Amino acid sequence: MNKFLIRKLDFPKDSPALYKFLDTDEVDILKKVPELMRDKISKCHVAIIDSCPVGWVLTHFSYPKSLSWEDDNDTNHFFAKGNCYLGNLDVHESFRRKGIANALLKKSYQSARHSNRSQIWLHVNTENKPAIQLYESLEWKREKLVTPSWYKSGSMFLYNKRLDDINA
Ligand SMILES: CC(C)(COP(=O)(O)OP(=O)(O)OC[C@H]1O[C@@H](n2cnc3c(N)ncnc32)[C@H](O)[C@@H]1OP(=O)(O)O)[C@@H](O)C(=O)NCCC(=O)NCCS
Repeated sequence: MNKFLIRKLDFPKDSPALYKFLDTDEVDILKKVPELMRDKISKCHVAIIDSCPVGWVLTHFSYPKSLSWEDDNDTNHFFAKGNCYLGNLDVHESFRRKGIANALLKKSYQSARHSNRSQIWLHVNTENKPAIQLYESLEWKREKLVTPSWYKSGSMFLYNKRLDDINA
């Protein structure tokens, strides 16, 4: 198995390789990450194999206005005291099933704990079986089925994980 390491995003160094496997929407988000990190709104980590990024996770700690989110009740709740939100998680398809997403998620939990957050939230498409299996295997709790107006590709589950009991 290829060994990987997880570290903070180094945008100038990492972005060319990330652009090659992220979809268009994710690339648009990634381009805004330096500003989000500078303003302490978000933290971003990458998985590296042989000096090359093969996965990323983006965690938001306050409302990321520059991503043009809609200001609904759930969204406001994600950034209420003690909460944060996992915006993106992706692993290059050649490197899946090696524990990389699991390790990126652990890094996200660590960042959240470090920022005194006790809960983390995310949305996942109801058809995304690999991701649902991932979150269920890591004891994320399915809160509800949602069909927000901003989402154009079907329904999503809203998942939540409490971080109080994690030794991060
Ligand atoms: C979902 C995704 C991030 C998983 O990444 P990964 O690095 O392959 O995941 P891991 O190797 O850490 O998997 C951990 C566990 O998740 C579950 N899992 C992951 N992929 C799975 C799959 N294709 N089928 C079934 N279970 C899966 C398994 O329980 C796995 O443990 P195991 O390999 O010991 O059985 C990856 O498939 C991906 O990037 N998908 C496209 C982007 C995406 O859907 N992101 C999530 C948006 S909410």
